[in-house]
Amino acid sequence: MYDRSGVIAELESALETYHGRAHAVLTSSGTAALHAMYAACLKPGDEVIAPAYTFFATVTPLLHLGVRPVLADCDENGNLDPADVRARITPRTKAIVVTHLWGIPADMSALGEQAEQNGLLLLEDGSHAHGARVAGRLAGTFGVAAAFSMNGPKPLSAGEGGFVLTDDETYYRVLLFSQYNKRCLNEIAPDFPLRAYARTGAGLKFRIHPLVAAIALEQLGHLDDYLQGRAAVAGRMREQLGRLPGLIAPVLPAGTTASWYGLPLTHQPEKLGGLPIERFHRALLAEGCREVTDHHGELLRCPA
Ligand SMILES: Cc1ncc(COP(=O)(O)O)c(C=O)c1O
Repeated sequence: MYDRSGVIAELESALETYHGRAHAVLTSSGTAALHAMYAACLKPGDEVIAPAYTFFATVTPLLHLGVRPVLADCDENGNLDPADVRARITPRTKAIVVTHLWGIPADMSALGEQAEQNGLLLLEDGSHAHGARVAGRLAGTFGVAAAFSMNGPKPLSAGEGGFVLTDDETYYRVLLFSQYNKRCLNEIAPDFPLRAYARTGAGLKFRIHPLVAAIALEQLGHLDDYLQGRAAVAGRMREQLGRLPGLIAPVLPAGTTASWYGLPLTHQPEKLGGLPIERFHRALLAEGCREVTDHHGELLRCPA
């Protein structure tokens, strides 16, 4: 499909309605969604504060755009630490990008405040956090734009694919970077300054496959049910694992609802007689815990 029609239009409209945002643009992957979002919002030489703990694609598209990522430390849940973000703001900082790691929402009230006070754009990588909420508000609705992945076992999964959410003219720039010709010609307003580039866009094509869109559309209808199931399992695991010495189970910040893409557990060697993580991991595997991984990617799966 070369324009916004058929299942593409259906899924984009459904995502807009679900999130209460004006525009959704589907892309071939979450990486492509992040790339298009950054291209729409940033220019070469800008600095963007990003979490030091995230999947690499939160950051790597910035490098392709000549934008400088500045990594900030994360809190015990793996999300941006607002105090460290504050310390890293410079006159070149243009944006803060937030990942809601493993589906646990970041501190959007503190991060939003910092963005506002410093005149920065707030961007979200919601790839782990479809349907996660802060005080009832969905992840992906806090900043000027948000990018999501739909690959693999993401809370909203279609095998591959991604999307960008935004409310304003950023939409045209996302279209120009990720689509071209018919779609851009149909949708970009005649008086938009970059309209002259509608036929070729940026010369890139990040279009989603319609079959993927059909799968995602079906899955979106079940998302809230799936999340309830995940919450029940995560609640039980946190309660039981939290009682064990040497393991810290995540505590949800007040007023948040997680999508539980993963259940991050912190190993405390000092409570286990100095037990190295590698041995601990091997013991868990020997007990049949096949899904247990560490954050170094070798033993453990990366947050992909
Ligand atoms: C936080 C995060 N951002 C972005 C991506 C990239 O998404 P995709 O694999 O769909 O390109 C991933 C991984 O899949 C991710 O975990």
